[in-house]
Amino acid sequence: MKFFIDTANVDEIREANKLGVISGVTTNPSLIAKEGRDFIEVVKEITTIVDGPISAEVISTDSEGMVKEARELAKIHKNIVIKIPMTAEGLKAVNALSKEGIKTNVTLVFSATQALLAARAGATYVSPFVGRLDDMSTDGMSLISQIVQIFRNYGIKTEIIVASVRTPMHVLEAAKLGADIATVPYKVLMQMVKHPLTDIGIEKFINDWKNAKLKI
Ligand code: E4P
Repeated sequence: MKFFIDTANVDEIREANKLGVISGVTTNPSLIAKEGRDFIEVVKEITTIVDGPISAEVISTDSEGMVKEARELAKIHKNIVIKIPMTAEGLKAVNALSKEGIKTNVTLVFSATQALLAARAGATYVSPFVGRLDDMSTDGMSLISQIVQIFRNYGIKTEIIVASVRTPMHVLEAAKLGADIATVPYKVLMQMVKHPLTDIGIEKFINDWKNAKLKI
């Protein structure tokens, strides 16, 4: 499973990128708004940090508006992927964009049949939101299991981005199920790095070395 980072904060993206584990970036209007900066300026800056798919979302709700926005965003950089909401208008836009060779990430996917429709419309990626389902007492991870199975059944090439990730356990379960990508917030990425036994182990190695008074 590959990792994308789910943020529009360029400092977080820079730090995460230094770890060498990040293959792409996902943003959404809420994440961009949190930064209080110009949308295009932020997206452009992200393209200078990570050399991989960078999702930027459209705001229009009609297919014509989505396609128009998508064409402008796609001009920014070859790595831009257009995030389109999972609606009937969104599917029309995805289909039109796929014919133009513009990559899309269908977002706000909450059912396996939505994911299948998005794939058939020509989506490059689908983003099922596990955390938001869990928030509603519905098992987000069983949605991932269903989509993985369906895409395997039909040899569908659309990649599954596990989104709305809240904990390292989401990442673990998604990896076990064989999802292609998990897009993780910076906090979750750093939680995955840490283990208390690693810290205790380092401290013990250093103390044993000091006590033995060895020279390097
Ligand atoms: C990423 O593509 C999504 O926009 C993001 O993961 C949503 O996460 P949230 O449910 O924590 O807002």
